[in-house]
Amino acid sequence: MSASFSIEMSPTDQQALILPAKFAEYVVGPRPVPKPAPGFVLVKIESTTLNPIDNVIQKAGIFIAEFPGVPGSEAAGTVEEVGEGVTNVKKGDRVMYQGWWTAADRGTLQQYGLADAARIAKIPDTISFDEAATVPLGLATAVLGLYGKRDSLTVTGGGRTGLTVPWEPAGRGAYSGPAVVIGGASSVGHYALQLLKLSGYSPIITTASGHNEAYCKAAGATHVIDYHKVSYSELPAAVAQITTTAVSVVYDAIALDDTQKTAWQILAPRGNLVVTRPPVVGKSGEDAEDGKHLVLAFGNVHPPPNNELGGALYRALPGLLVEGVVTPTAVEVLQSGLAGIHGGLVRIGGGNVSGMKLVVHPQETA
Ligand SMILES: NC(=O)c1ccc[n+]([C@@H]2O[C@H](COP(=O)([O-])OP(=O)(O)OC[C@H]3O[C@@H](n4cnc5c(N)ncnc54)[C@H](OP(=O)(O)O)[C@@H]3O)[C@@H](O)[C@H]2O)c1
Repeated sequence: MSASFSIEMSPTDQQALILPAKFAEYVVGPRPVPKPAPGFVLVKIESTTLNPIDNVIQKAGIFIAEFPGVPGSEAAGTVEEVGEGVTNVKKGDRVMYQGWWTAADRGTLQQYGLADAARIAKIPDTISFDEAATVPLGLATAVLGLYGKRDSLTVTGGGRTGLTVPWEPAGRGAYSGPAVVIGGASSVGHYALQLLKLSGYSPIITTASGHNEAYCKAAGATHVIDYHKVSYSELPAAVAQITTTAVSVVYDAIALDDTQKTAWQILAPRGNLVVTRPPVVGKSGEDAEDGKHLVLAFGNVHPPPNNELGGALYRALPGLLVEGVVTPTAVEVLQSGLAGIHGGLVRIGGGNVSGMKLVVHPQETA
């Protein structure tokens, strides 16, 4: 009788979305599959997403500094190989993680990527790869903007809000009174609504297109104001009709000049305003004369100042998903794997994505 041996081969080459040089057009092409260093995990990426930042990276020439680079912020897939010292996940586990642009191997718009085992989460059985892939960037941007000790370090140099995270008993339902989210149908706004609800705020007032009212309410909004019908200059009066209680927290996920100015106007003295784009109403981390505090979110868990809060988030994440208090964004899956990205980025650039996230299946690349 002859013995049969099966040798398990690791993949050596893969397809990726590559930024060949600063300001160059993205191309889909081959690059090596990386080996996980100690503390890292090689993930076969089944679902990843497109985000506004992927256009910004290419057009503004920021964040990716080594070329060829690979963009991409969110991934869900299967553990292929673990590096030395990794004990929290093993080969075959379904996992989700956030990408990071410091190395091409850590971008997620490719078939295999490296994840830092310190900030990776197992995906609960009830959550699909597509759903899981929508979580990392939007949720991190909401969490890292909304919570954290006032005196803790931040990536942007600006202070945090001082609010306690809602997955800890001390923070869950710990707050009261109204909160406002500008852009509740955006990915970031969708997660901000869920977190503010978990923190105890009520009413939660948001702005969105009328067709996204049910989507925002399912995430925690009590009132949805259609910003096509009520302009941002009219919003403070519309909010005052809903509540006369001081608004102590506003999350502006859109953060255009007019939305920031309105958000600042709605915010009560000593309240917190979180913005997702460069502030125009003050300086991040500084208090205005009336004590209004401004925070520019930096929504990535990997830079060292965000590691503590980011690590805590990833440890809490599977439980939050199982409990259903964090629910993924709605998705649309693009066809043709990585080849579908160009069309998706054009849609994002044109403002033609509403109330959901564009998802890419890298393994479906021809
Ligand atoms: N600082 C950071 O670390 C960080 C991280 C992530 C994102 N961001 C930035 O945050 C912004 C949001 O990102 P995202 O990924 O959440 O975007 P997204 O989901 O792609 O945003 C699309 C949504 O924005 C909503 N929207 C657009 N203009 C609006 C307005 N004037 N008022 C209310 N809603 C409006 C639309 O709502 P309707 O369809 O209902 O009209 C649409 O659903 C982007 O500028 C992004 O670059 C920053």
